[in-house]
Amino acid sequence: MKPRKLHIKSYGCQMNVYDAQRMVDTLAGEGFVESANAADADLVILNTCHIREKASEKVYSELGRLRVMKEEAARQGRRMNIAVAGCVAQAEGGEIINRAPAVDVVVGPQSYHHLPELLARAEKEGRALETEFPAKDKFSFLPPPQPDVIRARGVSSFVTIQEGCDKFCTFCVVPYTRGAEVSRPVAKIVDDVKRLAEHGVREITLIGQNVNAYHGEGPDGRTWSLGTLLRQLAEIPGILRLRYSTSHPRDIDEALIEVHRDIPAVMPFVHLPVQSGSDRILMAMNRKHTAQDYRRVVDRFRAACQGIAFSSDFIVGFPGESEEDFRATLALVTQIGYAGAYSFKYSPRPGTPAAEMQETVSAEVMDERLARLQELIDSQQSAFNKASIGTTVDVLFERAARNPGQIVGRTAYLQPAHVMAPQSIIGQVLPVKIESLERYSLLGELAENAPPLSASPDTRLVTTSHETPMGA
Ligand code: SAH
Ligand code: SF4
Ligand code: F3S
Repeated sequence: MKPRKLHIKSYGCQMNVYDAQRMVDTLAGEGFVESANAADADLVILNTCHIREKASEKVYSELGRLRVMKEEAARQGRRMNIAVAGCVAQAEGGEIINRAPAVDVVVGPQSYHHLPELLARAEKEGRALETEFPAKDKFSFLPPPQPDVIRARGVSSFVTIQEGCDKFCTFCVVPYTRGAEVSRPVAKIVDDVKRLAEHGVREITLIGQNVNAYHGEGPDGRTWSLGTLLRQLAEIPGILRLRYSTSHPRDIDEALIEVHRDIPAVMPFVHLPVQSGSDRILMAMNRKHTAQDYRRVVDRFRAACQGIAFSSDFIVGFPGESEEDFRATLALVTQIGYAGAYSFKYSPRPGTPAAEMQETVSAEVMDERLARLQELIDSQQSAFNKASIGTTVDVLFERAARNPGQIVGRTAYLQPAHVMAPQSIIGQVLPVKIESLERYSLLGELAENAPPLSASPDTRLVTTSHETPMGA
């Protein structure tokens, strides 16, 4: 049978990137191969994000373009199926079916293992929708990737360990689109990571909407925390680096801080969103911690691990945010000193408590605050990046760069680093003497046998931009 072509486009967070791969793995069993091109695909999946208005609006404009392609395919006598997956599918499933007649399948994030059935149903009945929250771990039903697929995806891989959120921050749709917090059992995660490592993966980023709320069933029958899980994963042969994202400041426990002290494979770089530096706003956001609580968490990490760096997310213009509240955010950024951060204008989301709040901040004020915050974050980021010039840092090499002869990898702080070197270094962690900085990229050369200098708290920086993987 001729393979069918699948084109998948993902928006939003790392969880969507990971889910997209799992959908590809599932549909591989149905004879689908991934294609970079939508126009000649037999199936196009839009894997959507609902986090801000801008993100979810993109879906409808994209669907407009796809409808034209679908009509063209029909003229050529081919059927193109269009599926909408992800968080907009979960939040607005019925509305998508009504508003976009070209859509054949709507599938929520908890139902990807049913994709083959849903497609069959759509071909038979015209359309299919599934946005249930089944009780079972969907990942136990999704087939693992094949060895050649793992190798093609490169040396760094995401693994979902936890999904959903019970925090209910008043601005956020995630508890509604991803449901209640569910942790995968330790044994399943260990199996996944072993398989990835056997086929060349060297870096694992454990992901979850609230990853440090992880409380999975351990092989000893007890409940394991993220710290205990990281210790176990660090033992797996081939795994050189471990990361985790995204953490909530309230769920940082001593076990997690201790792995940063004890386990070199756990990278000294933590994404720890705080959203605001004002206690009044933090309270209205239902974050359930103060700015001082957050500073204490950062201090505990820093006491345990020299050289640890942080990134964060911020929202400006949350309802009721005064100039004084905003200044408290600037003050917190100044005190912490970030390696990078994402910042967003508040976007009211239907169904969330904050969307009902009356004291809205004007668009002009939001723009002005965003610009001021971004300027401060940018200056911290470039200072951090510049500080690595002249030092020697460990880089995990990932792939050939666009410039011929160059290989690109990442530092502990996720800064891209380029060197002239043979392809054989891909998959290795090697010390690099950093010579210069070009925009956000470090340029350097392989340091022969040079031991990496240990990092000091404020001398390294990561590359993040304000446009974010979180549904920009
Ligand atoms: N689980 C993570 C991140 C969730 S979404 C956490 O708790 O931090 C990623 C980021 O999007 C959030 O950290 C927040 O900064 C931003 N965000 C979420 N809802 C938003 C909204 N309604 N308007 C603007 N930004 C929002
Ligand atoms: Fe959203 Fe994160 Fe808050 Fe959960 S903890 S409600 S995912 S911002
Ligand atoms: Fe969903 Fe991730 Fe966006 S959880 S709403 S795709 S940020």
